[in-house]
Amino acid sequence: MVDVDPDRAEQRAEQPLLRMRGIVKQFPGARALDGVDLEVRPGEVHCLLGQNGAGKSTLIKILAGAHQPTAGEVLLDEEPVTISDPVAALKLGIATIYQELDVVDGLTVAENIYLGHELATGGVTRRSDAARNTRQILDRLGHKEISPHREVGSMPAAGKQIVSLARALSRDARVVIMDEPSAVLDSEEVGNLHRIVRELTADGVAVVYISHRLEEIRQLGDRITVLKDGRTVATGLPVADTPTRELIKLMTGRTVEYAFPERSGVPEAAAPVLEVEGLGLGDVFQDISLTVRAGEIVGLAGLVGSGRSEILETIYGARRSTSGSVRVGGKRVRSGVDGAVAAGIGLAPEERKSQGLLLDEPVYRNITLSTFARMARGGLLDERAERAAAREQVEALDLRPASVDRDARTLSGGNQQKALLARWLVHGCRVLLLDEPTRGVDVGARSEIYGLIRRLADNGTAVLVVSSEIPEVLGMADRVLVISDGRAVHEGPAEEIDEHAVLDLVMEGSVA
Ligand SMILES: Nc1ncnc2c1ncn2[C@@H]1O[C@H](COP(=O)(O)OP(=O)(O)OP(=O)(O)O)[C@@H](O)[C@H]1O
Ligand SMILES: [Mg+2]
Repeated sequence: MVDVDPDRAEQRAEQPLLRMRGIVKQFPGARALDGVDLEVRPGEVHCLLGQNGAGKSTLIKILAGAHQPTAGEVLLDEEPVTISDPVAALKLGIATIYQELDVVDGLTVAENIYLGHELATGGVTRRSDAARNTRQILDRLGHKEISPHREVGSMPAAGKQIVSLARALSRDARVVIMDEPSAVLDSEEVGNLHRIVRELTADGVAVVYISHRLEEIRQLGDRITVLKDGRTVATGLPVADTPTRELIKLMTGRTVEYAFPERSGVPEAAAPVLEVEGLGLGDVFQDISLTVRAGEIVGLAGLVGSGRSEILETIYGARRSTSGSVRVGGKRVRSGVDGAVAAGIGLAPEERKSQGLLLDEPVYRNITLSTFARMARGGLLDERAERAAAREQVEALDLRPASVDRDARTLSGGNQQKALLARWLVHGCRVLLLDEPTRGVDVGARSEIYGLIRRLADNGTAVLVVSSEIPEVLGMADRVLVISDGRAVHEGPAEEIDEHAVLDLVMEGSVA
C-alpha cells in the first residue's frame, strides 16, 4: 500500500470528515471488498479509481446504506456510525448518485427529487414548494428547459442523470457521492457537472467521485484512492503529483497502451451494407442519409439530445420513422424490430439495465440470448454449446469474474456492459449498431473493446457507433457524421477532422 504523508500531500491538514476502516463485504460466493480504507476531508474531491469489478460501487453503497459491511467501521467526524438504510445515510448528510439510474419512471421530476421527503407528501402547498425548489435546483444545474412536472420515464439517460443529481443537491448533504456521473453526459453537461462539484467543495462539502475517465480526474480531483480486487492499493494520492501512467499501473498492475487499433482501410469498391435514406422521426431528427459498407465503422458524433440514439433506435425499428427508408444489402428492411433483426441488424443499447440485460438470468443466457433463441426454434436448446460460446466471449472481453453461470445482476456495471456487447459478438450480425459501447468500461478493457469492434468490421460487419466522447468516435471510426439538432451537419473521414472542429460544428448547428 502506498501511503502518502498527509502534510506533504495537502497543506490543509484537516480532520477527516469521513473515514472507512478495514471494510469487508462478503456476498454469497464473492468477496467484493477485502479490507478497504478510505479517508475523505471536507471540501475535497476524492476520486475512487479501479478496474471494473474492483469494488467501487459496493464501497459507496455501504456509505449510502444500501449494503451492510461484513466487517470494518465507518466514522463521521471521527465518531463510529451505523448506516442501517438509505434514509439513515441521508440523515447523516450522505447523498448518493448511483451508477445505475434509480429514478422512478412513472413519477414527475419534482416527485422524484422529493421522493420520501416531507415536501412531496405534505399536501398542496408543500408540493408547490417542492416544484419551486426543483425549479431552482434545475436552474442551478443549467437546465432551464426541464420542467419539474415532466414525467421522468419520457427522458433520455442523460436527463435522468440530471434528476438524480438534482435529488442529491436537494438534501444539503455534507458528503456527496457520485458513481460515474459523467458516463451518460456530453462535454457541455460534464462542464456543468464539474462546476457544481466545485461549488459544493467551495462550501466545504466532500465529494467522492468515481470515474473511468482519467482526464476528468485530473481536472477535478484533489486526492485519489485506488482499489484493486477489493483492496486499497493506494490512498490519499494527490492528483497533481501522480502521473496517469502510474494510476493505470496501480489499477491494473500493468502498463496499458491506451490506443485505437489501426484502420484497415475500407476499399472504395466494398459493397454498401446499410443504406439509410432521408430518414426522419417527427421533430427529433430529419433527413438523415448514410451508407455503411462492409468492413466499415461509421461514427455518429453530436451532443446528448441531438438525436443520435434515436437514429440508431429508428434504424433498429424500435421507433417508427416518419420518413425515409432503410436498406440492408440493397433490400428494403421491413418495419419494426422483427424486420430489422431478420435483415441482420443488431443494436447494443445505451441503457443496459432497462433495455438489454435479463438481470436474473445467468451471464451465458444473456450473451447467447438472440442467437440461441433463434436456433432453439428449430431444435433443442443446447446448453453446453451455449455456455461454450459464451465462455469464449467472456475470455475475449476479459469479463470478471470469468464465470458464465452467475446472474447478470451480480456483475459490476462495466462488466454488465461487456456482457451486453458480447451478445452481439456471438450473434454475428450484418449491421451492428452500438450506442456508447464503452460506457462505464475501464481503461484496460476499453482497448479490448476497440480491438473487438475493429475485428468484427474486418470480418465484414458494417458498424454504426455512437459515443459522447468525441476522441473515441474519431479514434474508432473510419468515417464520421456530425449530428446537430437532429440534422447531419458534416460527413467525412475521421482522420481529417479533430475534436475542436467537431465541437464547432455541433455548436454552430445548434445555434442555427
Ligand atoms: N449482489 C452481489 N452478489 C454477488 N456479487 C456481487 C454483488 N454485487 C457486486 N458483486 C461483485 O462484487 C465485485 C465488485 O463489484 P462493484 O460493482 O463494486 O465493482 P465496481 O468497482 O463498481 O466496477 P465497475 O467499474 O464495473 O462499476 C464484483 O466482482 C461483482 O461481481
Ligand atoms: Mg461500479
